[in-house]
Amino acid sequence: MLVLGLESSCDETGVALYDTARGLLAHAVHSQVAMHEEYGGVVPELASRDHIRRLVPLIEKVLAEAGASKEEIDAIAYTAGPGLAGALLVGASFAAALALALGVPALPIHHLEGHLLSPLLSADPPQFPFVALLVSGGHTQLMRVAGVGAYELLGESLDDAAGEAFDKTAQLLGLGYPGGPALAKLAAAGTPGRFKLPRPMLGSGDFMFSFSGLKTAVLTAVRERVLTEADQADLAAEFQEAVTEVLTVKALAACHATGLATLIVAGGVGANQRLRERLDAAASTAGVRVHYPEPALCTDNGAMIAFAGALRFQAGLAEKTGARCGAFTIRPRWPLAMA
Ligand code: KG4
Ligand code: ZN
Repeated sequence: MLVLGLESSCDETGVALYDTARGLLAHAVHSQVAMHEEYGGVVPELASRDHIRRLVPLIEKVLAEAGASKEEIDAIAYTAGPGLAGALLVGASFAAALALALGVPALPIHHLEGHLLSPLLSADPPQFPFVALLVSGGHTQLMRVAGVGAYELLGESLDDAAGEAFDKTAQLLGLGYPGGPALAKLAAAGTPGRFKLPRPMLGSGDFMFSFSGLKTAVLTAVRERVLTEADQADLAAEFQEAVTEVLTVKALAACHATGLATLIVAGGVGANQRLRERLDAAASTAGVRVHYPEPALCTDNGAMIAFAGALRFQAGLAEKTGARCGAFTIRPRWPLAMA
């Protein structure tokens, strides 16, 4: 079965072809970072318009790379939410129209399900059940994953997501957008501990997070005095230590509480090297194995959507998922446990 995947929930247009017998045949991503950069963040209307421009060329590219024709497509999987409504509408309506023209079903996929299943695309995939730490720009969640479509929320952020905290803190330090990678780079040049930032909810005894206070603490430090470049690097390093410590401790506590020895990490913040170092170290002490997606599949992409769609078909979940020909849904707000 050949599945075309379309991702357009935010500022990346992702397209991919996944074949259930042969695996991932091709994938391509267009990032809008350069376009949004001058505004310091994603401008939703510009994002939607750019998705419209990019979809057809990207689809042609992956079809050519895979040596396939569009008539060979058996199903289309598209991101139906959560995300920016206008951006989602582009991918969803395109998927529905193409599905109608080809006479195949269009399957709405939850964006976080795509992230969460993406480590299964790697050469050494994890086995169900596992704990998933989802850390993206919009979400910070710990889930217990029993199988495809079986997601139990263990805990999540009460306010800012981890990626959002990185982005906002980067902005406070005068770094560009997207802030996560820029802040991580600055942190590598700094020494943590010179500035003291809190470890929010570290001892809360549950799997909830809160990151908005950290950003405020950074703001206070920035306002107190003029920071030298070295100060900024030290502050960035301390911020990164605070976020990665809380994420690591809670992720391992979730493994302990569920009795599971497999942890997967997905979403853009999962690309953070310091987070990986800490998780790997803590996991090896606890006898837990950590799986990450391939580097190219950490941030938003179409491969994870095509793959999630294919797994849903294979698991017999297409009908429950709402597979249709010529109709579409978007759900800008959509809890993963309901997917
Ligand atoms: O999963 P993703 O690509 O998009 C969403 O679904 O949100 O995640 C994007 C988020 C952004 O907040 C970005 O700053 C963050 O991931 N990010 C990072 C790093 N790379 C991306 N945060 C920290 N360190 C990184 N290396
Ligand atoms: Zn994402």
